[in-house]
Amino acid sequence: MKKNLPPSPPGHKLFGHITGFAKDPLNYMMKISREHGGILYSRVINYKIVLISKPEYVKYILQENNRNYTKTSGYKPLKLLLGKGLITSEGDLWLKQRRLFQPAFNRESIMNYTKIVGECVDDLLLEWNNIDPDSKLLNVSHEMMKNTMVIVGRTLFSSDLSKDTALVWEWMTYALEYVNNRTKTYPFNFSSKIPLPKNIRFTKAVASLDNMLYRKIDERRKEKGDFTDLLSMMMSAKDEETGKGMSDGQLRDEIMTIFLAGHETTANALTWTWYLLSQHQEIEEKLHRELDEILKGEIPSYQNLGNLRYTAQVVQESMRLYPPVWMIGRRTINEDQIGQYHIPKGVDVAISPYVLHHHSEYWDQPEVFDPDRFSSENIKKQIPYSYIPFGGGPRLCIGENFAMMEMILIVAKVAQKYKLLLPKGTKVEIGSSLTLRPKEDLKMELYKRVI
Ligand code: HEM
Repeated sequence: MKKNLPPSPPGHKLFGHITGFAKDPLNYMMKISREHGGILYSRVINYKIVLISKPEYVKYILQENNRNYTKTSGYKPLKLLLGKGLITSEGDLWLKQRRLFQPAFNRESIMNYTKIVGECVDDLLLEWNNIDPDSKLLNVSHEMMKNTMVIVGRTLFSSDLSKDTALVWEWMTYALEYVNNRTKTYPFNFSSKIPLPKNIRFTKAVASLDNMLYRKIDERRKEKGDFTDLLSMMMSAKDEETGKGMSDGQLRDEIMTIFLAGHETTANALTWTWYLLSQHQEIEEKLHRELDEILKGEIPSYQNLGNLRYTAQVVQESMRLYPPVWMIGRRTINEDQIGQYHIPKGVDVAISPYVLHHHSEYWDQPEVFDPDRFSSENIKKQIPYSYIPFGGGPRLCIGENFAMMEMILIVAKVAQKYKLLLPKGTKVEIGSSLTLRPKEDLKMELYKRVI
């Protein structure tokens, strides 16, 4: 019987869809999935990829038949930075580590982190308080990144990274840019070991980050104290069969993974949230009303966070329009059948939360920012797997609840006191880096709220 491959939209004679994708991945994917359907097949020389944008198929791949899928080879560039941490590992190693990390992300742990997150935001607001009133332009992208970096350090590793943030920022930014460029041109990359200036600089950036991490591990070994954070869980874990602890290399990979995954995504989601609020005054006013009525000037805490329903909806809707992770990749282990189509063995499958979240079949007026889509009434009408900012199935983001708590708390605390305005005439464009962030750093005017 003839095997029916998914339709393949016409592309460049030689390069297929690679050129369109490399130029403007988001709009290109939107265009071809709108014009040619929810499952598409593309082939360039020997490289084959299937693009999925139908919720039912997404559910099938991430959840129902997840055992037939590994992470794609497209994660290879990321491995240069993260090694075999929780995001990039597979099989037994992944399962063992996921089980080990889970308690650090349970309800009780998250409740404990709320206080620390609150303190970190207070420190940030104190700095903002001292900003010269005449130079109110704030680099919101940097501020959010710096704050979430400090938060992940203090909550999960009990380590104050604020002394290192400027340097860590520089190394991490370069390393991410490098990984991002390789991801864009994947699988057509030369070895990162060729001594080109960009490769040498990347190696140096990673070595500097490694030095910092190994120093932290060393400091912790020498420190006496009763730590209950993720780092101590990692360091005291013993393999059930061998009785051995985690090697320093594995420890490094896991810390780097949590450190990166734990701040970059959240910071970008927050940056977009401030941008969207500045463009939608009625929504911002509704948010302020909720904060004023529920908190009555009190500090938000874990106990009252759950009552800030509209604040949560604003964050959810912001991640619909700008999902920080805009692409999720998998690879078939064995051949598969998706809908009526045959998917060969060893093929990369790309699922884009961005395309799903902007699809007019699943969302009314998808380009409109409307947090009411996430009201308890409306959320029931959502098609399963049409909204996947945190992925799905067994490899669902382990930090989902942590991130939601953190983002709601930051939005609540900042918006209780401040308003951020985008200077007139500023054009904000999307830069589809490894995560979705504004192309240029977002700089906004900071005003104290008059209540
Ligand atoms: C707005 C914030 C965040 C977003 C949008 C986000 C999104 C995602 C997505 C889509 C995945 C699945 C990737 C895949 O299936 O290939 C993922 C996995 C992961 N995330 Fe997050 N994430 C966020 C925050 C966090 C935080 C705060 C942490 C940790 C503190 C974290 C740690 C991880 C880890 C370790 C994985 C891999 C899980 C596994 O494979 O078992 N994330 N994240």
